[in-house]
Amino acid sequence: MTTAVTDWHDHAHRLADELEQAGKLTTPEWRQAICAVPRHELVPTYHQPTSEGTWREIDTSTDEGLRTVYSNTVLVTALTTGTAGTTVLSSSTQPGLMTRMLEALDVHDEHRVLEVGTGTGYNAALLAHRLGDERVFSIDVEPHLVEIARNRLARVGYHPTLAVGDGAAGLAEHAPFDRVIATCAVPSIPWSWVEQTQPGGVILTDVKPALGAGSLVRLTRHDDRAEGRFDATYAAFMDLRHHPGGNLTPARTERDHSHAEHRTSPLDPRTPWTSMIVWFLASFALGRTISFGYTGADTTQPPTASWISTLDGSWAEISLTGEGGQYTVAEGGPRRLWSLIENAHQRWTDLGTPGWGRFGLTVTPERQLVWLDEPHGESIGELT
Ligand SMILES: C[S@@+](CC[C@H](N)C(=O)[O-])C[C@H]1O[C@@H](n2cnc3c(N)ncnc32)[C@H](O)[C@@H]1O
Repeated sequence: MTTAVTDWHDHAHRLADELEQAGKLTTPEWRQAICAVPRHELVPTYHQPTSEGTWREIDTSTDEGLRTVYSNTVLVTALTTGTAGTTVLSSSTQPGLMTRMLEALDVHDEHRVLEVGTGTGYNAALLAHRLGDERVFSIDVEPHLVEIARNRLARVGYHPTLAVGDGAAGLAEHAPFDRVIATCAVPSIPWSWVEQTQPGGVILTDVKPALGAGSLVRLTRHDDRAEGRFDATYAAFMDLRHHPGGNLTPARTERDHSHAEHRTSPLDPRTPWTSMIVWFLASFALGRTISFGYTGADTTQPPTASWISTLDGSWAEISLTGEGGQYTVAEGGPRRLWSLIENAHQRWTDLGTPGWGRFGLTVTPERQLVWLDEPHGESIGELT
């Protein structure tokens, strides 16, 4: 059923209240922006996964759509279909994550901001509302998304500078910026972002050396480096891709059980996903391109094992049911992947199970080093 959307302001106020109650919105400036920007105009439709593995398109001018678009929900807004099937090309980030990031960005009235990952333009609209059109720059690698965002933003009265291209190169023609915020994940910090940020300025991005392995980091630009800490709470964005179109799914390694080594492990196979820092620590040893998933008799039954593989042909499969606290492990290929994860878990335990906020990153043109507690403290790993 379609409803008049004239009452969207009430919905936007309710969203602001919800974010405040959840502790994700604390400043009057960003509350005002959430209440003023019509998310449903920038996200007129979104895609919802169905139980059959397909997608259903929802119109946000319907009652259901309007309620959802003004809730703390990430919305899939663009899909692409290729050899790997249908994958997500863009989404409108969870509003609570956006406000957390915008507040962490600590913008002041005179600041000029670069956003990498325009998507729907909603985040750019929040920034333009707060700072004015002339101080907001946003880039996306997908030309058609930028075109659509430009038209929708104009219709609701915002005209930030939008650009098409690989945001990993920044936006040199409009640099320097006081703040750079990326709404996609990078394996390491592009040096161009550091160069294009004023000394004393801030870069806020999701950094993930491998799939799912990492979180938000907030760096301050110094003369010769950018340095700062990870945010205390885990967050995940889609990966940055250097060209338009979906990300390629890494080829899977065949798990040849006839050449496997078998043993048991006391480490619960769910650990890397329930303790994301273990996965982050493990990623430095596993390398950048990792595949993982679950196996089972068929999709109607619960999975029986989890598996992981890397491009060098290494793989591990770990049973999900342990007996006497021991899980069966099969490993094949040149490296013992589950051992690398066990080592990462041991290291995290030895360090006293630190949370994200104790990790930090120093970026220079030569190296990107992850550390614990202090820049010259315990060295955790290097981003490449
Ligand atoms: C989570 S969405 C961004 C959401 C957006 N900020 C909004 O408010 O709707 C991530 C976006 O990053 C874009 N992206 C991926 N790689 C990129 C790149 N190299 N440069 C710029 N944008 C990129 C994607 O096309 C996608 O639109």
